[in-house]
Amino acid sequence: MIQVPEGMTNQEYHRNYLYLSILDECKSTDEILEIGCGDGTGDCGILGPPMIAKKVYDYVGIDRKRYNNPSFNFVQADIEEYGLTGMYDKIIALYVVQYVSPENLFKLASEHLSPGGKAYFSEGLNWVQGGERVTASEICEFFRQGMAVFDHCEIFGIEDGIIVPEAQAKTGVFVIASNQEGNDEN
Ligand SMILES: C[S@@+](CC[C@H](N)C(=O)[O-])C[C@H]1O[C@@H](n2cnc3c(N)ncnc32)[C@H](O)[C@@H]1O
Repeated sequence: MIQVPEGMTNQEYHRNYLYLSILDECKSTDEILEIGCGDGTGDCGILGPPMIAKKVYDYVGIDRKRYNNPSFNFVQADIEEYGLTGMYDKIIALYVVQYVSPENLFKLASEHLSPGGKAYFSEGLNWVQGGERVTASEICEFFRQGMAVFDHCEIFGIEDGIIVPEAQAKTGVFVIASNQEGNDEN
């Protein structure tokens, strides 16, 4: 169980739980890419990106909106047009899937993931398709199919920000994907 960091309110803890879980897995040598890191307003990407950037060797956050005064490497760009280069130990894309072409996002993440690296995705139940809210089990199925571009994936549910087993998904879905170590020819 992740500890509530000193100075963080319970509400902030719940909002940043996915980031805290990823932070827990980050090493000081990691090179990290975050897609849709937020613009530093509202709930999106206020605490998460700076916390991670502080711990790792290199962090770059990309968002199509402007992030004023980021304390980390920030690129304002549309990921669908940005010519991504380099390989990353961790690729983070939280609550972004519904705004982009998911197939392209998953392929891009798989291609730029270092051997042994991990990619993290999430989506919430506010996702509307064809006028209907997507259900938790539909999101799980969607991710299960999309993750075919990776060698391995684990699917979890989210309840009030907290990671729970897939069957208990109440507010969203969280996915950790990886490729086999050494499988870097593609
Ligand atoms: C719901 S917010 C999530 C922010 C942050 N990841 C979080 O979990 O708090 C989605 C973010 O994705 C960004 N975004 C959407 N489409 C994008 C694109 N094509 N390229 C880059 N960023 C994009 C939006 O500007 C927004 O900041």
